Order: sequence, then C-alpha cells, then structure tokens
Amino acid sequence: MSIQSKKSTDKKVKATKKSIPAFEWKYAPAPESTDHIDIKPQYELFIGGKFVKPATSEYFETTNPANNKVLSSIAKAGASDVDKAVKAARKAYAQSWQKMPARERGKYLYRIARLIQERAREFAVIETLDGGKPIRESRDIDIPLAANHFFYYAGWADKLPYAFPNRKPMPLGVAGQIIPWNFPLLMAAWKIAPALATGNTVVLKPAETTPLTALKLAELIQEAGLPEGVVNVVTGFGDTGAALVNHASVDKIAFTGSTPVGKYIQKAIAGTGKKVTLELGGKAANIIFDDAPIDQAVEGIVNGIFFNQGHVCCAGSRLFVQENIASTVIAKLKRRMKTLVVGDPMDKNTDIGAINSAAQLKKIQHYIQLGQQEGAEIYQTDQALPDKGLFCKPTLFLGTSQSHRIVQEEIFGPVLTIQTFRTIEEVIEKANNIPYGLSAGVWTDKGSKIFNLSNRLRAGVVWANTYNKFDPASPFGGYKESGFGREGGLHGLYPYVQFEH
Ligand code: NAI
Ligand code: MG
Repeated sequence: MSIQSKKSTDKKVKATKKSIPAFEWKYAPAPESTDHIDIKPQYELFIGGKFVKPATSEYFETTNPANNKVLSSIAKAGASDVDKAVKAARKAYAQSWQKMPARERGKYLYRIARLIQERAREFAVIETLDGGKPIRESRDIDIPLAANHFFYYAGWADKLPYAFPNRKPMPLGVAGQIIPWNFPLLMAAWKIAPALATGNTVVLKPAETTPLTALKLAELIQEAGLPEGVVNVVTGFGDTGAALVNHASVDKIAFTGSTPVGKYIQKAIAGTGKKVTLELGGKAANIIFDDAPIDQAVEGIVNGIFFNQGHVCCAGSRLFVQENIASTVIAKLKRRMKTLVVGDPMDKNTDIGAINSAAQLKKIQHYIQLGQQEGAEIYQTDQALPDKGLFCKPTLFLGTSQSHRIVQEEIFGPVLTIQTFRTIEEVIEKANNIPYGLSAGVWTDKGSKIFNLSNRLRAGVVWANTYNKFDPASPFGGYKESGFGREGGLHGLYPYVQFEH
C-alpha cells in the first residue's frame, strides 16, 4: 500500500469514527443455536452406573434464569438414595477401581476428557441455559477447563510415586463431593478428576439450580464405560448434601460453596475421622498502583468483578486504587462499563448474563440498597435490562470505607467497591483486614512490588497484571474463612491420598 493511499484510508477511518459515537454502537443479535442439544424432560439419579428413580418419588424443576422457563424435572434424592449411592461407590471402590492398575484408571480419565471436548458445544449451551452465564464464558472457559482438568489428572494417575517420592500414596475410599452453581461442570471436574486419579470413588451432589451438566456428565461417564458405581450423582437440595456429609461410610468430604454451610460441615464431621476440604467465599482485593498499565488494569478490573455476573468466589470485588491515579481509573472504568452488554446469555455478544436465582438477585439487590444507606456513592449505567429473567446492572460504589458492610461481606454479584490508598503498607493492611483470603490481584510495572505483595497478602492466589486466570496445573484454595485445602495441580492430589506409616 502506498503512503498516499494509507493516508486516505486513515482519514476515512477517522471520518467514520466521528460519525458513530462510541457508545451508540449496537451489535446485531448473535444467539447460539440450541438445535444440537438434548435436554430430557426428566432426570433420575445416577447410582451404580444406572439412572434410577428416587425412593422419595419427588422431583424439582430446574429453570433458565434468563427467561424463567422450566428446562427439566430433576429427581430429589433423600437419605436412603444417598445411602444407596454411597454403597454403590463403596462396592466399586472395593471390587474394581482401587484394584485396577493405575494406568487403566488414567485411560478412563483421558476418555472422559476427550468426550467432553467432543461435546463441548452441547455442554456449553446447557451450562448457559441452566445457570445464566454468557455463552462466551461457558464456551471459552468452563467447558475447555473442565476437559483440561480431566486431561491433567489423567496424566497423574500412573505417576503418583513421582508426585510423592519415597512414600506410598493410597486412596481414601469414598469421596462425597458437594458443589455450587457458579461453575457447575468445572467444579464437578475439579472434584471428580483428582479423586478418580488417586483411586477413590465418588458421590457428587450438584447444586439445585444447575444440575444439568453434572447429569450430562453422568451420561458421558456411562458411555465411557467406567465401572459401575465409580461415579454417582445424587441431585437435591441442602438436605441431600447434609445426608452425604453425615453418612458414616463416606471417607472424605470436598465442598465448594458458602461459608455458613462450610462451617456446618466442619461441625458435622468433627470427631468422625472424615477428611475434609472446604473452598468457601471470598472478597478479593484488586490493587492498582500508579505505575500500572492503566488500560490493561481497567480491563482486569472489569474481568475481575463483572465476569460471570460476579458469581465467582475469587471475584475482585474490592478495588484499591492509588490515590494519584484514582480519578483517571474511575473515569476509564465508568466509560468501559457503558460498553458492557447485559442481557441474553445465549447471545455471543453478551458480557453479563443472568443472575443465577431469584434468591441470589434479592441478596445482591439488598446489598446495593445497603451500600446507599451506608453512605457510599452508587454508579450504574443507564442501559435498560431485559424485561424478563433475572438481571442486575454492573454497579460501582465510590467513597466506601473499610467498615462498610458492602466492603466486608461477600455479595456474589456484579458489585464493585472502590477505595483509595497512598502507601504499600496501607493497602496491605486494608486488603488483609477481612475475614476472607481466597485471592487478590496486583497491577504494577515493578516486579519487586509484586513479590512483596504476593508474600504479604493473605490470599491463596495472587494474580499479577492479570485476573481470574485458571490452569489445571496451578493450585487454588484459601486462607481464613475462605476455607482450606487446595484443588488443582500437584497440591490437588494431597486431599485424596493417605500414606502408610
Ligand atoms: P450453598 O453453600 O448453600 O450451596 C452450595 C452447595 O451446598 C449446594 O450444592 C447446596 O445444595 C449444598 N448445601 C446447602 N446446604 C447444605 C448442607 N447443610 N449440607 C451439605 N450441603 C449443603 O450456597 P447458596 O445458598 O447457593 O449461595 C449462598 C451464598 O454462598 C452466595 O450468595 C455466595 O455468597 C456464596 N457462594 C459461594 C460459592 C463459592 O464458590 N465460594 C459458591 C456458591 C455460593
Ligand atoms: Mg437452572
């Protein structure tokens, strides 16, 4: 291209930009199709390799939070169903899984991983329909990461002696695993893959609002030919989870969810000898220094809190900005928020999808009201929300202080509080002054600041110049009321093994 023609192209681009003001751009709808998915009108419990009716004869509905339409009827497992599932898992442990050569177990895990990849599109669409998260996230994050967790732990299955040199790792037995609604398939993969790789069998209890992908996974596991009873799925509410926690023949409980339920579980199993890992809430600090690349940091802030509607335990829900750049960062952040598309989760342009349940939306709205009562200044964009379904505008609270409840408590929605700071000491003190300690973010040009902060922030994960990045090879877990135990990586094997003395 000649210099002459390049100049004229630049001019044209400029002219076009001028005539279309940035925030009035509308994307044409780009909905993902649902032709290729199969959701049955009714799902039973997956026990001993078969789909079986619940002894309770009770079913509950799972809906699509973006339009409140019912997707399917789901079996409600009672204590006797949980007992049946635990017995099936115990039998499979004793008769097949524990005895099987480790490399054979690995082959099954590889097979599950590959089948998830093959059906990635179907899993992504069902995840979005059932939970409300944007299709872009379930397609690009949840499902590929779930497959990668199975691949990663498949690799460990026959290499455990290398993971624990000079020790003899042995499985624990039957693992009861209870998962939440924010990353349904991914949490199932985080729980099931390391348990199976180490020779344990599993009873999984998905969340009541998002059971579909776990049940699809059960179908896939059946197809992969896993020995009967190695993985069992019992659907239901809190009482189903409690029946699993209190079952005498469960050797280990792995739980991800709210801090109150985590505390309940810890009390319930005290003195029983059951092992436990808890991954609970969070209230992460995302810290921006004045030497940070500001535009990237603004993207990181947006990704940190508005990603998945803020339904993320490690969400960067407390923003700390160095005082001298606060006005620039806030202006850029507000400008970016205006471009976020809130709406139909099935549309590929959507940034912020539906809130998972009416109860969760009520909780978020309560905190938005509370923030205003506490005297913080609220900022929301003026874009309209869809008429139907459960939606919430991305929300910013300025002028907040450490003692505000919106700063101290987990909201689990697209709500960000902003505080400013002057010195490193001050921001470390403020960031750590919280009951939680799951994650944090640091944005700076200086490596030394990153090392200093990552050592002194009481958080299980500290991201530097990025946010909300996951990899099966890196461990994840919390401090303080965010729980204990690690999932992912080599560390994620520990909670599922014991050693000969
Ligand atoms: P929850 O902790 O009640 O639910 C998580 C899972 O635990 C679900 O499968 C549920 O059926 C099960 N469960 C509930 N009560 C139980 C019990 N007594 N024994 C055993 N299992 C039980 O979370 P919920 O009510 O859905 O959300 C409430 C709040 O929890 C959210 O607003 C959010 O702040 C937090 N949360 C945190 C999550 C995280 O990833 N850390 C995930 C989900 C919620
Ligand atoms: Mg649902």
